Amino acid sequence: MYRNSVLLVLASLGIGNAQLNPNQGAAMMRFACSQLVVERLDPLVSPGVIGSPHVHQIVGGNSFNASMAPVAYDPPSRSTCTSCTFSEDFSNYWTAALYYKARNGTFKRVGQFENGGLVQNGGITVYYIPPYDGVSNVTAFRPGFRMLAGNPTLRSTAGESRGICHRCFEGDNFTPFGGAPCTGNDTSALPDHFCAGGIRTTVTFPTCWDGVNLDSPDHQSHVAYSTIPFEPYYEPLATRPYTAAQERGKCPEGFPVKLPQLMYEIMWETRPFNKKELWNEDGSQPFVYAMGDATGHGQHGDYIFGWKDDSLQRAINARCRNDKCKELKSQSNEAAMSCTVPQTMKEDVEGNEWLEELPGGVMVN
Ligand SMILES: *[C@@H]1O[C@H](CO)[C@@H](O)[C@H](O)[C@H]1NC(C)=O
Ligand SMILES: *[C@@H]1O[C@H](CO)[C@@H](O)[C@H](O)[C@H]1NC(C)=O
Ligand SMILES: *[C@@H]1O[C@H](CO)[C@@H](O)[C@H](O)[C@H]1NC(C)=O
Ligand SMILES: *[C@@H]1O[C@H](CO)[C@@H](O)[C@H](O)[C@H]1NC(C)=O
Repeated sequence: MYRNSVLLVLASLGIGNAQLNPNQGAAMMRFACSQLVVERLDPLVSPGVIGSPHVHQIVGGNSFNASMAPVAYDPPSRSTCTSCTFSEDFSNYWTAALYYKARNGTFKRVGQFENGGLVQNGGITVYYIPPYDGVSNVTAFRPGFRMLAGNPTLRSTAGESRGICHRCFEGDNFTPFGGAPCTGNDTSALPDHFCAGGIRTTVTFPTCWDGVNLDSPDHQSHVAYSTIPFEPYYEPLATRPYTAAQERGKCPEGFPVKLPQLMYEIMWETRPFNKKELWNEDGSQPFVYAMGDATGHGQHGDYIFGWKDDSLQRAINARCRNDKCKELKSQSNEAAMSCTVPQTMKEDVEGNEWLEELPGGVMVN
C-alpha cells in the first residue's frame, strides 16, 4: 500500500514520463516537516505580536519566534533542531489551521494524516522543485528571504494566487490520485461533499524574484509567479507534449531571478466528520480556516528561509530527489518529530473539549 501510494504520487507528478524523455525528470525535493507548534504567532505578517489574528500550524527550525528580523535573526545559528527531514533546514513554513464547526457553534481543530510514503506527525510536506528541463539553474533563497502566498482575506475566486487549491480524495489511500495540483477536480474552495479519503491543500509560491528585496510590505511584491509555470504537470494531460522547456518558468519584467518552486501540501483528516448529521443543516460543508474562512479561498502559506550555508543551493544543483540527498544531512523521522516548541501564545487551540469560539475570537465571515 505504501509503495503503491509512492508510485502513484511520483507518476502523477510526471516522473514516470522520464521514460518518454530520458533527459527530463522532475528531480524535485519532497520531504516531511512535522508539527513544531500550533499557535497565534506570525513573525512575517504580525512581527513582535504575541497573539497574531489567527492560528497557524508551524513547522521547521525551533528558533521560530514572534520577531525574526530579516538577516539579523539567523535561524540556522539560533535553532538547535528542526522538525524537517533535512537537518540543515531551519526554515519556518506555516499555513492556517483548519477547524470543524459543529451545528451548536463549537469548534475543534481538524487533525492531519501522513502524506504518501512519508512518516510525520501532522505538519506540512515541503517541495522544492527545480526547472523540469533538467539543466536550467535556479537561485536558492538568500538569508533573510521571506514571502507569503495567497491572501487570508479572500472569500471568493477573485484575486486568488495561482496554485492554491484543495483536492478531495473520493476514495481511500489517495485515490483517485488525479493529476498535478490545481488540475482536474481540484478546487480553490473547500470541497462541498464528503471526501472519503480526506482533503489535501496545496500552496504554491511564486518563482520569480526582483533580486534585491528580501521582503516587501505585503510580503508578495518582491516576487511574482512565472508567466508559464515551469512544472509541466500543471498542464492538463491533453495538452502534452509540453511547452518548450525554455519557455517554461519565464519571469515577468522586473523579476529577473528564477527561484526554486516552493510548494506545501497539508493532508486534512476530515474523515471523522463524513456524516450528514455532522455537516450543516443546509448540507453545506462544516470546515472553517482559522481566519474565519468557511469558503477555503483564504488559504495561504508563509515562508522564512533558514537553510544552513549553501545547503539548499547545493541540493538543487545536484537535482536531489524526494527526501534522500547525498548533498544534505538527514535525520530520522523520530528526531524530526521530537523537535517541538511550547506555545508562546498560550491558549487552547485544539478544542478537544470543544472551543466556544475560534482562537482570538475570530468570527466566521
Ligand atoms: C525570541 O525573541 C525574544 C525576544 O522577543 C528573545 O529574547 C529570544 O531570545 C528569542 N528566541 C530565540 C531562540 O532567539
Ligand atoms: C456541540 O456539538 C459537539 C459535536 O456534536 C458535541 O460533541 C458537544 O458536546 C456539543 N456541545 C454542547 C455544549 O452541546
Ligand atoms: C548550472 O550550474 C552549473 C554549476 O553551477 C553549471 O555547470 C551549469 O553550466 C549551469 N547551467 C546553465 C544552463 O547555466
Ligand atoms: C472528477 O470527478 C468526476 C465526476 O465525479 C469523476 O468521474 C472523476 O473520476 C474525477 N476525477 C478525479 C481525478 O478524481
